[in-house]
Amino acid sequence: MIMSTPFPQGFLWGGAVAANQLEGAYNVDGKGLSVQDVMPNGIKTPPTPEPTEDNLKLIGIDFYNRYKEDVKLFAEMGFKVFRTSIAWSRIFPKGDELEPNEKGLQFYDDLFDECHKYGIEPLVTISHYETPLHLSREYDGWVNRKMVGFYERYVTTLFNRYKNKVKYWLTFNEINSILEAPFMSGGISTPKEQLSKQDLYQAVHHELVASALAVKIGHEIMPEAKIGCMVLSMPTYPLTPNPDDVIAVMESVHKNDFFADIHVRGQYPKYLNRYFKKHNINIHFEPDDEEILKNTVDFISFSYYVSICETGDPEKKIAGEGNLLGGVPNPYLQASEWGWQIDPQGLRYVLNTFYDRYQKPLFIVENGLGAVDELITDENGNKTVHDDYRIQYLNDHLVQVGEAIEDGVEVMGFTPWGCIDLVSASTAEMKKRYGFIYVDRNNDGTGTLERYRKKSFNWYKEVIATNGASLKK
Ligand code: BG6
Repeated sequence: MIMSTPFPQGFLWGGAVAANQLEGAYNVDGKGLSVQDVMPNGIKTPPTPEPTEDNLKLIGIDFYNRYKEDVKLFAEMGFKVFRTSIAWSRIFPKGDELEPNEKGLQFYDDLFDECHKYGIEPLVTISHYETPLHLSREYDGWVNRKMVGFYERYVTTLFNRYKNKVKYWLTFNEINSILEAPFMSGGISTPKEQLSKQDLYQAVHHELVASALAVKIGHEIMPEAKIGCMVLSMPTYPLTPNPDDVIAVMESVHKNDFFADIHVRGQYPKYLNRYFKKHNINIHFEPDDEEILKNTVDFISFSYYVSICETGDPEKKIAGEGNLLGGVPNPYLQASEWGWQIDPQGLRYVLNTFYDRYQKPLFIVENGLGAVDELITDENGNKTVHDDYRIQYLNDHLVQVGEAIEDGVEVMGFTPWGCIDLVSASTAEMKKRYGFIYVDRNNDGTGTLERYRKKSFNWYKEVIATNGASLKK
């Protein structure tokens, strides 16, 4: 019997990670420090002056030394694509040097070669929450216009070096998260409470110009490459049908979506003027900025974990725990152990919304359930995790991706987050696991770093092998 599937031939199934959350080797082979090396508690506490031993990211899951074993496991699941990032401070240790660090470049050459050995296409995030610490401390990160030049040198180096190995690129991870996490996302060392809206939105402008510049340079060096933006998506529903709530949703969506609007349309949307006026924000444009912004992306990629509600009633405006951007909890949804509300239909909704708005191909580059896993020994004596909750979560979300495809949305691929367990970004712990592969490392830093296949490993393998036909509606 031929099982039917809405997923098109060539759909890019895979998994996603970020350098700082799994590579470790934080000071090896010439690597400089990044903002992550001084964030032992994620975004929960301010950065430390120096790296401290309790920072799990310093060792990560030792991917730097074990990537061959890990890529082999990805290949066993049938990955077509592997999303990872390049640690900027491996290539330019301080960020403002003129010459790159050859050993850093070589590491990614080797990693990409290893992927190609199995027919896995790398999907590379150029900047994923790992601004070189020197650029943060010396220049205040993206508040400073000079960052555009440093980033330009960095991307030009990457494109020239990997033009024959990498076809898919993302300019900044969750670029809109800078609004909530200016240090982690934008390398801005001025504490959030002291950061003016003027400086924050000027930093946003610098990133947007840098992103467009990357698209321009990338297309010149690699005419065949596909370069996308990456945004944190969060479908926003009115808490009630009260028109005040609906307007609150509209304003919240504007605040979030202008990043993608500019990436796709090549100019600032008019609705921002009102916000800028209200908050006394005057964005300084350099003479070429308007032209540079016209270099629009080939596709839109996004993360999806939670949906939120908004309300116009200040009394009901209690913050949910969700992903970085907060929001009001939805009374109809259950939450994960970390308070992230689970809403598979929200993924269909966000896919449709983006496609209606932009008519560009979409790539889901993050989705998944952070959960506590228990390593057990099964009847065959193999160590594993019976993570039926994760299978359920991913199945339900993928069914909704199928629905969106049937709605007519063009979806390029799906790379669930943390396909191998890694250190979490918001809380910097190991305990919050997303992977199909269990890594023996604990919050206190103990563990053998051995890898074990979870039950979801075989489940995902089957999903890929059947191009989604094995999913259960
Ligand atoms: C996204 C980030 O916000 O969510 C990832 O791009 C992150 O870096 C992921 O790991 C999941 O968040 P957390 O805090 O559970 O690791």
